[in-house]
Amino acid sequence: MIEKIKSQIVAVEAFSSTNVEEIENFRIKYLGKKGLLNDFFAAFKEVPNEQKKEFGQAVNTLKNAATEKVNALKEALASQEESKGVYGDLSRPGEPIALGSRHPISLVKNKITDIFARIGFNVSEGPEIEDDWHNFTALNLPEYHPARDMQDTFFVEKDPDVLLRTHTSSVQVRYMENNQPPIRTISPGRVFRNEAISARSHCFFHQVEGLYVDKGVSFADLKQTLQYFTTEMFGKSKIRLRPSYFPFTEPSAEVDVYWGLETETDYKMTKGTGWLEIMGCGMVDPNVLKNCGIDPTEYSGFAFGMGIDRIALLLHQIPDIRMLSENDLRFLEQFKASI
Ligand code: DAH
Repeated sequence: MIEKIKSQIVAVEAFSSTNVEEIENFRIKYLGKKGLLNDFFAAFKEVPNEQKKEFGQAVNTLKNAATEKVNALKEALASQEESKGVYGDLSRPGEPIALGSRHPISLVKNKITDIFARIGFNVSEGPEIEDDWHNFTALNLPEYHPARDMQDTFFVEKDPDVLLRTHTSSVQVRYMENNQPPIRTISPGRVFRNEAISARSHCFFHQVEGLYVDKGVSFADLKQTLQYFTTEMFGKSKIRLRPSYFPFTEPSAEVDVYWGLETETDYKMTKGTGWLEIMGCGMVDPNVLKNCGIDPTEYSGFAFGMGIDRIALLLHQIPDIRMLSENDLRFLEQFKASI
């Protein structure tokens, strides 16, 4: 009898399983109501007195071994389940990570800032919600100035005026207020105008502002810089500057780049002229320098501003400006290959 118990102890210790049902059957076989242990306990009465001690000890050892075995196997099973919950099946093949794409606005913005970074321009930013001073007054647009109507403004608060900036020229002012020349900075950002939304215009869009202030900066420097830019950006080096008016620059000009008339698209894009208007520019008005704490008798500078959205539409042949803000994945995913 004792031999039988000892061989059961060996069997119990050797048992192993990761199967819930097998473990349960094992438990029932040894520890269940009709299990082997109860049989052995029942047989205890029949054991001769001198063997009772050894028998009792063997049965207890078997009981403890079986109980411990069941607990250990159940615990191992539970922790395995738990780690499955956290990590899944670690031997499973990996899932490919879907690559995102850059928004066409970001693509164009990055390209512009890269081109100017190569000639020493840093990137600066300002707030989208502006005060009257930075958006208008400091830029030579005092209250009641008629040129304020060129840019229909969204007001957030009146008296004192708080508004959504209508152009990134406001960042020029902030930058000059906080930095002394030499200044070479590019300020990309979103701007807002109270305009009807259509395929060609939106109530918000993006601009890049450029500003260069130092001793002896001339109009020739401006033209050289812009020519460098159009060559790098579009591969086109022929530009022309048409006289124009902006309150913050004097003289002011509108910049056209010669796109050519080689394809039908060229005809359409340039309305048959071959020329494309891409930005406004000029020499920073001495009043603006003064307003921003820079001495105009010592320093001069040039500035320019262009619309990013329009360039993105041009470069990617996008027919409707609204597509840029609709977040339609079918549209956005087409830019996957671009960096
Ligand atoms: N702020 C002008 C606009 O939004 C663009 C512009 C023109 C910016 C001439 C300039 C500039 O810095 O010199 O229409």
